[in-house]
Amino acid sequence: MSQIVTLQAFLDHWAGSDPEKAAIASTVRTIAGTGVGIADLVARGPLEEGLARIHGSDPNGGGDTQKELDVIAEEAICAALREAPVAYLASEESEDLIALNPKGQLVVAVDPLDGSSNIDTNVSVGTIYSILPFTEADRDNPNAAVMKPGTNQLAAGFLAYGPATILVSSLGNGTQVFVYDRESSEFIMARDQVEIPVETREYGVNQSNMRHWDEAMSGWIKDCLAGKEGPRGKDFNMRWVGSMVADAFRIFTRGGVYVYSSDKRKGYENGRLRLIYEAFPIAMLTEQAGGGATDGKTRILDITPHHIHQRIPLVFGSKGEVEKIASYY
Ligand code: AHG
Ligand code: MN
Ligand code: MN
Repeated sequence: MSQIVTLQAFLDHWAGSDPEKAAIASTVRTIAGTGVGIADLVARGPLEEGLARIHGSDPNGGGDTQKELDVIAEEAICAALREAPVAYLASEESEDLIALNPKGQLVVAVDPLDGSSNIDTNVSVGTIYSILPFTEADRDNPNAAVMKPGTNQLAAGFLAYGPATILVSSLGNGTQVFVYDRESSEFIMARDQVEIPVETREYGVNQSNMRHWDEAMSGWIKDCLAGKEGPRGKDFNMRWVGSMVADAFRIFTRGGVYVYSSDKRKGYENGRLRLIYEAFPIAMLTEQAGGGATDGKTRILDITPHHIHQRIPLVFGSKGEVEKIASYY
């Protein structure tokens, strides 16, 4: 039997006696621990009345309708990170940065609850996070700490609350998968190095929006749909959960490509997903697993944000297919 490695042991070993690494490790541990509480709530399903109820009448910081669970998840993360070395939190649910620990040397960007539209349907939802440095120079203008290219991330990850509660994490040296074990109350390593297959025959995309896409993206999907008889010379399969964390975990498990492109609908000019707390962390996890992540043509991690809640078209997954899509542009 192979040796059991807990998240705790893995992080401790990685951090060694390096104080910056120790700060990152304790932040990852804190987020993972908070995720267990959110997973417990999600697991109660319809017994926990009102999780999918619309919260208030105002949209969130990102401009979307808020559900009760979006707000509960943000509050839990916020409360937990106050005790961590985190100076500020950028969250999908709050317009501005939230001040946390004045002594913190990190900033966290978070999508507290990804897949809100699935809350009451017993389908996986999750939490996505990105960990960045917070320097002395950022103290006068904390926003500057998150307005940097994605290559600046120190760590990234997501939790998915599905049949299993899983954590996909990268500390910049590969991408690892941990599973929460309810018997020992520990996250246990399930994969020490995720490798996304380079080629794939599977894509995840909300194809109902096809008529709104630009020529390049519709050209790509048309060729996929033409299958064996078309220019691609192979048949494709489609899978779309509608919770990016679940679609991402499938891609990290068996390959595939996820696409949420820009389209002609009002408000979708830059796609739907947010750069800082959705695309950046997913792009880091993907690249650390040998995959690719672009906005269709440009590498996501090279983009410099200009707004906390900025949206970006997102393509990620099997490198061959990500490059194939870029070739249509
Ligand atoms: P969020 O719930 O944080 O707003 O994110 C939802 C995202 C993502 O999880 C998913 O892949 C995508 O939106 C689904 O969008 P459509 O409902 O437009 O297909
Ligand atoms: Mn989301
Ligand atoms: Mn969300």
